[in-house]
Amino acid sequence: MAATRPKYYLTTPIYYTNGLPHIGHTYSTIVCDTVRRYKRMCGYDVVMTTGTDEHGVNVERAARKAGISETEFVSKMAVEWRRTWDELGIQGDEFIRTTDVNHARTVQWLFKLCRDNGYVYKGHYTGQYCIHDNAFVSDAKPGDPCPDCGRPTETVTEENYFFKLSAFQKPLLDFYAKNPSFIQPETRRNEVLSFVEGGLKDLSITRTSIRWGIPVPGEEPHVFYVWFDALTAYLSAVGGPDYEGRGFWPADVHLVGKEIIRFHAVYWPAFLMAAMLPLPKQIWAHGWLLMDSTKMSKSLGNVVRPKPIVDVLGMDALRYFLLREVVFGQDGNFSYDALIQRYNADLANGLGNLASRVLTMIEKYFDGKIPNSLSGVRLLEGEGNPDRGIKETAQFVAGEDVRLAGARGYLVKFDFSRALEAIWTLISAVDAYLTTMQPWVLAEDESKRERLATVLYISAEALRFVAVLAHPVLPDSTSKLWRQLGQTGPLGGQSIDALRWGHLKPGTKIAKAETLFPRVEKAEAIGRMEAMESEPQKPVTAPATGASSGAAAAQATNHKISIEDFAKVEMRVGQVKTAERVQGADKLLKLTVDIGTEVRQIVAGIAQQYDPDKLIGRKVIVVVNLQPRKLRGVESNGMIVAAAVGPEGRPVLAGFHEEVEVGARLK
Ligand code: MSP
Repeated sequence: MAATRPKYYLTTPIYYTNGLPHIGHTYSTIVCDTVRRYKRMCGYDVVMTTGTDEHGVNVERAARKAGISETEFVSKMAVEWRRTWDELGIQGDEFIRTTDVNHARTVQWLFKLCRDNGYVYKGHYTGQYCIHDNAFVSDAKPGDPCPDCGRPTETVTEENYFFKLSAFQKPLLDFYAKNPSFIQPETRRNEVLSFVEGGLKDLSITRTSIRWGIPVPGEEPHVFYVWFDALTAYLSAVGGPDYEGRGFWPADVHLVGKEIIRFHAVYWPAFLMAAMLPLPKQIWAHGWLLMDSTKMSKSLGNVVRPKPIVDVLGMDALRYFLLREVVFGQDGNFSYDALIQRYNADLANGLGNLASRVLTMIEKYFDGKIPNSLSGVRLLEGEGNPDRGIKETAQFVAGEDVRLAGARGYLVKFDFSRALEAIWTLISAVDAYLTTMQPWVLAEDESKRERLATVLYISAEALRFVAVLAHPVLPDSTSKLWRQLGQTGPLGGQSIDALRWGHLKPGTKIAKAETLFPRVEKAEAIGRMEAMESEPQKPVTAPATGASSGAAAAQATNHKISIEDFAKVEMRVGQVKTAERVQGADKLLKLTVDIGTEVRQIVAGIAQQYDPDKLIGRKVIVVVNLQPRKLRGVESNGMIVAAAVGPEGRPVLAGFHEEVEVGARLK
């Protein structure tokens, strides 16, 4: 019964609205969504929140640049963030915006509690402030750069309200000692401990230099410091001042990136202690997604958006890659190469191929019904036989003992990579089992009918285990597999605790095998994703049907597009004027190209094939009406056309055998 289910509350950070989601943000959100689904299957009443952090100088500036009010700007951006999660099938239970009235009420209430309890006082502060990170930089002198982002700091003097953070050094250290798993992983815990042990300075929690923020009641022009405002969103999402009514506070886990651990593990618990409110149970700080060994971030311009990957490979492929490839808690590299590698090896050839083999044989040899095999259900045969081996592997993988590859044990520890590895040991075991048992040979001998039934029953039952266990990570494809196995009801509603060997009912009609993960050709898939990545982003005001749904329609009609669509691409003959390597990026060249009407700067991924000096004077084909984008921080204003040759997609520049005039349009 719903009323008696234990509650579980987890959160993603709330994301800044001065940019759009990339796969770094997507990573945090996917992890949370996976935990949410897993906890549901364990019988919890789960709330997961995500949302947008909408105040501060950066938004003020971005709105000004866009020529619209802050309110209008953040509303549009919030729509985009929500839409991204919807498109990825991630359903947060609450989407919190810091411009919500209820949120403002909660921030003001929290401030009043801290103040009434004697932890807030008025003072002046002069310091070096990093506008990008919304933080004063302690111990910085005028002219010093921000140690986090490297941008110049600005000297700011303000009348502020201060929070007596210094009073919480001992209470915090006592709390960490009593709750050793409060900060995860261990490295972050140590980092926070030494920071707090080094002494805590009081913190200014209001600003008068910023207009776009939540007002401090009766103290205008003071507005709240963005972090006092943002952290409180976790509480306002589940009732704010009335949190007891909903029963979800304190949160079970705040999942964050490692760069914001201090705000979560020091400031936030101190605010709550001051207000005498319960503290969250755990802060889990994961590592960064890197692109060529550098943090993927909007300001560096090295971001990859989730949509092109999802359009080409499907949402589950992105989820699987991020959770399998990146060791949770550590940094991990993203590359299209590795993504496709994993997709083809583990999903298309692994799970997808196994499912299709088993289902096709059941269709063929048993008229599409789960075979009736008493020994498959009960496994009466002796110890050590291969049938029993599969059953045992399935039971171990469904268990919590990590020494026996218990995926659930890993999931509890947020060790997603190992959990998936464990589930894949079952897939490989069934693959090997089929190779040994050769059901296609058994099928030729009528006297082996019972044996054939047992082998296929066992394989299908193992697939049912895989569907249930992998569902939190692969919600779409496992749900398909579930239906293909003839199972009814939503897979997400299944109880993982009730997963028992032999519950697959003989005689159940299976559905037709449908390819779960079509194999893709590496260079072609990467080409499609990169092309979509370089498509202009939809303006925030555009309706939901945009460029990408046009691409989907093109796919549906066998990749054919109308002449009008082709005419949208403006290609012209260009001539390379200068060419040089981009520092720190071994594939990129920075070119200037004369396109007849102007000279453009274009960055091209051809450095490994073309010597910059030999390109000067060469005529190339340029797509001139692409929106500018940054590659490794360097602006590229157009694209040079090249063929992708061989399995690695080696670029070969397109050109002409006859003399052509610079600026001529290609038709
Ligand atoms: N608004 C603050 C958070 C307030 S929470 C009360 C903020 N926003 S953010 O838009 O910059 O998002 C930061 C978070 O996004 C990181 O902590 C992390 O969860 C995620 N990531 C952003 N880039 C990332 C990577 N390159 N790799 C992994 N996660 C990344 O900070």
